[in-house]
Amino acid sequence: MTISPELDKKAEEAISHYPAEHKRAASLPLLHLLQHEFGYVSEESVKWVADKLGLEPINVLELVTFYPGFRQSAPGKFHIRVCRTLSCAMAGSYELMESLCKATQIDRSGTSHQNPIAVSPDGKFSIEFAECLASCGTGPVCMVNDDFHESIKPAEAAKLVENYRAKA
Ligand code: FES
Repeated sequence: MTISPELDKKAEEAISHYPAEHKRAASLPLLHLLQHEFGYVSEESVKWVADKLGLEPINVLELVTFYPGFRQSAPGKFHIRVCRTLSCAMAGSYELMESLCKATQIDRSGTSHQNPIAVSPDGKFSIEFAECLASCGTGPVCMVNDDFHESIKPAEAAKLVENYRAKA
């Protein structure tokens, strides 16, 4: 893991928002910065944040394991998040998940609360369930990296995946 000077500068800037005696409050902003940069929060990232804030790595790791928004393993080039909250679930998000897994050849059988991400054999795609993505009236919805997709019927999953495969 290489921390660029730019990333280090952003981290210092985030830390500066808090009084020196409460700089541990910058843990979450720093973890978000690292996840955005590397796609997930590695053990090295946990240690780096801990060193930066004068904490023990376990203090940082407990945040990573508590908040489901943090990933502890590397995602694919295209990371898919499928909303499973009530409106989307009723509109077919579980069926959408199945269709997306089929289209990407992803096997989710090894996923758990601690390890919610499954990756395709070619490493191009990864997938996980997400909680409400704030478009409850147009479910089922999913995100592919930063792209938002609404009213995606399970039958449209293969086409969606192919569009991204063409960009890989
Ligand atoms: S329930 Fe899916 S976006 Fe809100």
